[in-house]
Amino acid sequence: MTRLAIFASGSGTNAEKLIQYFSEVGDIEVSLIVCNKVKAGVLDIAERWGIPSILIDRDFFYKSDQMLFELKQQGIDFIILAGFLWMVPPYLIHGYQGKMLNIHPALLPKFGGKGMYGMHVHEAVKRAGEKITGITIHLVNEKYDDGAVVFQATCPVTSEDTPDDIRKKVQLLEHRHFPEVVEKVVREKFHK
Ligand code: GAR
Repeated sequence: MTRLAIFASGSGTNAEKLIQYFSEVGDIEVSLIVCNKVKAGVLDIAERWGIPSILIDRDFFYKSDQMLFELKQQGIDFIILAGFLWMVPPYLIHGYQGKMLNIHPALLPKFGGKGMYGMHVHEAVKRAGEKITGITIHLVNEKYDDGAVVFQATCPVTSEDTPDDIRKKVQLLEHRHFPEVVEKVVREKFHK
């Protein structure tokens, strides 16, 4: 069994899609949810699906390498960032080199970097008058939104679209593609 940990900070709709998808895949499972926000929706989702979760604080995450120890102890093979809004510290990136994916709600390298998350991204896309936007799934390195891109998908933006309309279109793309892309990358990595 290949064991995935999902890191998330928010409502967790992507986390839930991943959980659902891998509940029907025999040899890959979501084994752990890591969250940095009390009362985040993703914690309810974890509970509903009976998946263990850890709530972390800044000291735990940044001032020691306990997170890496915890993940290794739990046999986690691969990390998925699904709306996780803290920068991942170097010790964790090194511990899971090439084994950590992030999803970003725009077509990187556009609309990435610090402060570019959630609605901020869609508002910036609207302000810039973009005609297309989309999603990017990429490996994680030490800079925000900067690792090797493994997948992108696009959707049109019309002049009538509000940032929330854009969010909805992008979310559809995320839910449609993220689980399959994760599966593909994990299988390649572990030669399964
Ligand atoms: C997703 O749209 C994801 O792409 C984005 O946060 C949202 C989480 O939604 N991530 C970023 O903006 C990272 N820079 P969810 O909690 O419903 O899955």
